[in-house]
Amino acid sequence: MTDLPEIRFAPLDVAPKGTAIVLVENELALSATGRALDKELKGQLMKAAKISRFTGARKSLVEVIAPSASDLERVLLVGRGEPAATGSSQDWTDLGGALMGQILSRKLNEAVLLADAASGALDAPDVADMALGMLLRAYRFSKYRTKAAKEGGEDGAGGPLPSIVIHTRAPDAVTEQFRRRRAIAEGVAIARDLVNEPANELGPVEYATRIERLADSGLEIEILDETALDALKMGALLGVAQGSARPARVAVMQWLGAENRRAKPVCFIGKGVVFDTGGISMKPAKGMEDMKGDMAGSAAVVGLMHALASRKAPVNAIGIVGLVENMPGSRAQRPGDIVRSMSGQTIEVLNTDAEGRLVLADLLWYAQERFKPKMMVNLATLTGAIMVALGKEHAGLFSNNDRLAGWLRDAGEATAEKLWRMPMGPEYDKQIDSKNADMKNIGGPYGGSITAAQFLARFVGDTPWAHLDIAGTAMASNRSDTNEGWASGFGVRLLDRLVADHYES
Ligand code: BES
Ligand code: MN
Ligand code: ZN
Repeated sequence: MTDLPEIRFAPLDVAPKGTAIVLVENELALSATGRALDKELKGQLMKAAKISRFTGARKSLVEVIAPSASDLERVLLVGRGEPAATGSSQDWTDLGGALMGQILSRKLNEAVLLADAASGALDAPDVADMALGMLLRAYRFSKYRTKAAKEGGEDGAGGPLPSIVIHTRAPDAVTEQFRRRRAIAEGVAIARDLVNEPANELGPVEYATRIERLADSGLEIEILDETALDALKMGALLGVAQGSARPARVAVMQWLGAENRRAKPVCFIGKGVVFDTGGISMKPAKGMEDMKGDMAGSAAVVGLMHALASRKAPVNAIGIVGLVENMPGSRAQRPGDIVRSMSGQTIEVLNTDAEGRLVLADLLWYAQERFKPKMMVNLATLTGAIMVALGKEHAGLFSNNDRLAGWLRDAGEATAEKLWRMPMGPEYDKQIDSKNADMKNIGGPYGGSITAAQFLARFVGDTPWAHLDIAGTAMASNRSDTNEGWASGFGVRLLDRLVADHYES
């Protein structure tokens, strides 16, 4: 995994050195440590603020260089806006992300954050959320930038990571709260690494090997090879893989952390198409490089499972990912082929580019047969149509269970990995009926994300289930305070929150 910066927590009453960051609330309200610093610098902070008309508005900033006699090099006054107590957990995470952005753009090796506010000392969870935001923002994918990786590029890529000390009223409490968030940030970094990795380096077999290495965190890992998948009769998944010289793998990750190891698990399932050319129904060249990210659903599952295991979540959770490459090789499946899924249902493959649903069909069936989960959530970069419907702001949420859908939506709001529920129903379902088989793998010209979800639903029994279409949110994603890059790691924080709020014993 890409390295993340070190963050330590220390008491508030230590005199800072180097670069210090001070949070300022509206109307230039300084915290106690900020006032002390200003006094030590003979009023220079307030003077600089006034000259630059800085008032403490959210995300505004003034940089003050300290006099040569001081142990300090500089002070960054950062606007916090409204009183500290009003911030949501995500507000703090975003603020931490924005701070890390400032630290990185100045190429600082060290920085000290004074985590108190005019309205009082900050609560431990708020400070820990800020630190989480810092870790998320510090992620960079620079392993192939050989020069930048060592020395740091002009654009901020690579180079040494800063080490951060956060001064807070209750450093022990924050350290404790931060442990779990660090596990989550690592999970996000793992997911981003996998999504950013080009497909020549990450075929199904290499991907499976990387997953096996995560056993260190306490996960039990099984890799199913082609012989095993054949024996399970996963004809839909294998049909997708057969056009590639690189064979399919399915990885099963188990974390049995609940008091009762036999309690029904929750199950997370991910589409892991390491590259999607479209197969014989080939995609146009423009933008095809983005299809290295067509395994983002699986990456979120892997990152989530790592996070749950390394924070020792009291839950039984199973992660299942289907790793295949969709290529137009000489053995590739053709439009019109009919494949037999593990469920026994037959599928007429009218478009080989609608491959994700074929992979998931067998995984959903397998998950229910083997694990009898109390609920399952699948994630997939499934349709371009979800971006037509929702843009890049929300992932599509499809579910057969209102309670689960509500919990997911709430977890999305809390983590800024937002979901929007989409409709399902028999009128959509009948669009995938086929004359030649039990169903076909594409619907009509409209509602493409919905007919894709209806297809998946045919492989889900009564298990409470949700499908997240993350084609618009997991890759080529919008930049934010907590993400600089192309891969977002969408789903890791969302599902960690879902588990923490509703499924831990
Ligand atoms: N992986 C794509 C969906 C996708 C498109 C993800 C753009 C991310 C960005 C998926 O396998 C696909 O090709 N879907 C087709 C379905 C169609 C053939 C019914 C699509 O969306 O065009
Ligand atoms: Mn496709
Ligand atoms: Zn695809």
